[in-house]
Amino acid sequence: MLEGKNVNLRVMEEEDLPLVAEWANNPEFGGEYEPLEQISCKEVEKWYDSLGSRERWFIVEKKDGSKIGQIFHSPRGPHFLIGYRLLPSERNKGYCTEAVKIMVDYLFLSGNTVRIQAETSPRNIASQKVLEKAGFKKEGLIRRSIFVRGNWEDGFLYSILREEWKEPKILTKTTS
Ligand SMILES: CC(C)(COP(=O)(O)OP(=O)(O)OC[C@H]1O[C@@H](n2cnc3c(N)ncnc32)[C@H](O)[C@@H]1OP(=O)(O)O)[C@@H](O)C(=O)NCCC(=O)NCCS
Repeated sequence: MLEGKNVNLRVMEEEDLPLVAEWANNPEFGGEYEPLEQISCKEVEKWYDSLGSRERWFIVEKKDGSKIGQIFHSPRGPHFLIGYRLLPSERNKGYCTEAVKIMVDYLFLSGNTVRIQAETSPRNIASQKVLEKAGFKKEGLIRRSIFVRGNWEDGFLYSILREEWKEPKILTKTTS
């Protein structure tokens, strides 16, 4: 468990899969800038079994244990990509910014990675603010990189380098 001030990141376990499927099938959870998908519980189980050690999904939990969203890291060559989604009722409370800061601390503390990146729609202002508040810098536009609701859309590429991350900022402790 990665513990922050207001949220914790807990590694996704098999028992979370029904909730993960429910979230994946709820278009409001992904929001208007994410690809639309519908997935069966069986497919979610297969996907879960196929995850390698460098792709890890976490459940974002509040301090009372309530599950409010997901954040993941996956490999991009020797580096990492991160992504995140929160329940609509829990947005705009600073939780995702904190979850991203915890993830950045974790990735730089746990391995020798030098770069963490994220991609977001130029229309997704909330996501851009999250990344900028967590210390990411905008690198540029990736043209026609994602298919969203019937259209190929451009994305912004953001990254944070190890030398831009000074010290653990928010990860307060880890527990098993
Ligand atoms: C993107 C997302 C994860 C942000 O989570 P969050 O917990 O609401 O983020 P935070 O509260 O930490 O910060 C959001 C910031 O964006 C701002 N914001 C939120 N909605 C906004 C909007 N529609 N326009 C402009 N700013 C907005 C907030 O005011 C806040 O900025 P501030 O701290 O300067 O006030 C959440 O909106 C979400 O789950 N969206 C759907 C999935 C998604 O788009 N994921 C990202 C894919 S790249």
